[in-house]
Amino acid sequence: DLGGYPHYMAKEIQEQPESVARMIRGRLDDRFGVARLDGLNLTPRELRGFSRVKILGCGSAYYVGQIGATMIEELARIPADAEAASEFRYRNPIIEADTLYIAVSQSGETIDTAFAVEEIKRKGGRVVGLVNVVGSTIARACDGGVYLHAGPEIAVASTKALTNMAVGFALIALSLGRVRDLSNADGQRIIDAIRALPGQIKSILDFEPEIAEHAKAVAAANSLFFVGRVRGYPVAREGAQKFKEISYRHAEAYQTSELKHGPLALIDESLPTVAVVPSDELTERNLAAVQQIKARGGSVLAVTHENVDFGELDVPRIVVPKTEPELDPILLTIPLQLLAYHAALTLGYDIDKPRNLAKSVTVE
Ligand code: BG6
Repeated sequence: DLGGYPHYMAKEIQEQPESVARMIRGRLDDRFGVARLDGLNLTPRELRGFSRVKILGCGSAYYVGQIGATMIEELARIPADAEAASEFRYRNPIIEADTLYIAVSQSGETIDTAFAVEEIKRKGGRVVGLVNVVGSTIARACDGGVYLHAGPEIAVASTKALTNMAVGFALIALSLGRVRDLSNADGQRIIDAIRALPGQIKSILDFEPEIAEHAKAVAAANSLFFVGRVRGYPVAREGAQKFKEISYRHAEAYQTSELKHGPLALIDESLPTVAVVPSDELTERNLAAVQQIKARGGSVLAVTHENVDFGELDVPRIVVPKTEPELDPILLTIPLQLLAYHAALTLGYDIDKPRNLAKSVTVE
């Protein structure tokens, strides 16, 4: 049921304030500044015992996994990284007893991710799931997990499930942090920020008409860069993924810091860049990179915060509300969904069922 929306993707984007509210309901404990994640089946002592986190997923779930790894490193100070489950399952991965493995999947049926889970279990590793579909293959195979409560997601391009994955990582990072060095006050700071997310997402969605205009401009190009650094880089990767999936445009993500080491050679009037420029400790460096792109004739669309001062630079902006720095990627990702959606709409493509793609790849 499209409920009056032209596409499932549009409906699922608009549902995000409520689906995030469902994700966090009953999971925030103000007294101790912690997340309540009973489904993980891990005691505080077990949570404390992990010295590494490895996140596995495919496609967008992999990119959100990268967002999650950054959150976990920042809030819990445990080495964390994300890997494409489709690669992990085909190498001979080293499975460590003190690593927490996290499998991320909307459908819970992606065969590459399911095989990665089996491989971890065969070798005695501990794996939990961040899964949307209750009772799915991956959810059942894991030792515990956190359900996303995003509701059914029909559009091939994932939106509301992804956002709930990112929120789920914030909750897991909080749990891992609070059994280590994260203070009660810092835990509370994150909890307050998580609680504000649904309202902030709503305010981003209110800017849809403006974002649609930006989308028309970027859809005219055959090729685009999406750039960000550190927290912003997985945001850029996911933004590029969404863009190429439904608008069939070549969209390539790069670390902003790497532009000068090669890709800057490609910049000219015909190659626009979508730059993730949050207000944080890297703003000045990001602005310097924007300046370099502009100096070479490239156009830039910035996804940024209100207080970032672009000075003389002629840069159209999509402004998102500020949250705590560790959680910025959750909100920075939202306008990129709308950018891809409206680019595909402008180009007249089949938004909910892009060519050559399936909602979940369940066979070899
Ligand atoms: C891909 C889909 O095949 O699977 C992507 O095209 C999706 O949109 C990926 O992100 C992972 O799916 P799931 O269900 O495991 O999250």
